Amino acid sequence: MTSPPNQGRIGLLLASSTDGAVGDGRDLLWHLPEDLQRFKSLTMGSTCLLGRRTLESIGRVLPGRRFVVLTRQRPTPDSPLFTSYPGVIWATGVEEALGATADVDPLWVIGGADVYQALEERADWIDRTEVEGTWPEAPARFTINPMLWHCEQNGEWQESRSGLRYRYQRYLRIRP
Ligand SMILES: NC(=O)c1ccc[n+]([C@@H]2O[C@H](COP(=O)([O-])OP(=O)(O)OC[C@H]3O[C@@H](n4cnc5c(N)ncnc54)[C@H](OP(=O)(O)O)[C@@H]3O)[C@@H](O)[C@H]2O)c1
Repeated sequence: MTSPPNQGRIGLLLASSTDGAVGDGRDLLWHLPEDLQRFKSLTMGSTCLLGRRTLESIGRVLPGRRFVVLTRQRPTPDSPLFTSYPGVIWATGVEEALGATADVDPLWVIGGADVYQALEERADWIDRTEVEGTWPEAPARFTINPMLWHCEQNGEWQESRSGLRYRYQRYLRIRP
């Protein structure tokens, strides 16, 4: 699970708790340095699709990555949203985002919860880091639909130097 699968083009890349929490609405719920490193190596040199709130949480376009950001706002050349993030490719809907990235392989969908939900039907695989534990109060959540996906690889539990336990999983589509 250190590179995309051979088939398909669009992957969801996420870290979620055992009960599906991904964020507090502003930031991540944990500090998992091993997973940040994995995120970096998987996405380096690639195009990432993300939501406007996740962009604001990250605060910039990450070096070595191309960011396509979903927003329903229409950024104008002088709007703060537009000027604060030079280099972002803006898209006002899923079709527009996928049109702008039609020749991109892989396309990493990097969140947040709204964007995972919006792209789940279009994705070819999911690379999930399961973080052991439950965060029932967390507002940003994404549950992998068991009707659409089967877990093809389920890594061993590992212990982070932060103390949390985590494991890597790859989900592939259930084909009819
Ligand atoms: N654990 C992880 O792997 C992970 C990864 C990424 C983020 N996160 C966390 O997730 C949280 C943010 O997630 P979130 O769900 O609140 O926000 P989000 O998905 O990052 O962004 C939501 C925004 O994206 C735009 N958007 C979403 N779907 C759209 C569509 N179909 N068409 C056009 N625009 C669309 C809208 O922007 P406008 O409001 O501008 O219209 C919407 O408000 C944070 O806590 C972050 O830290 C976790």
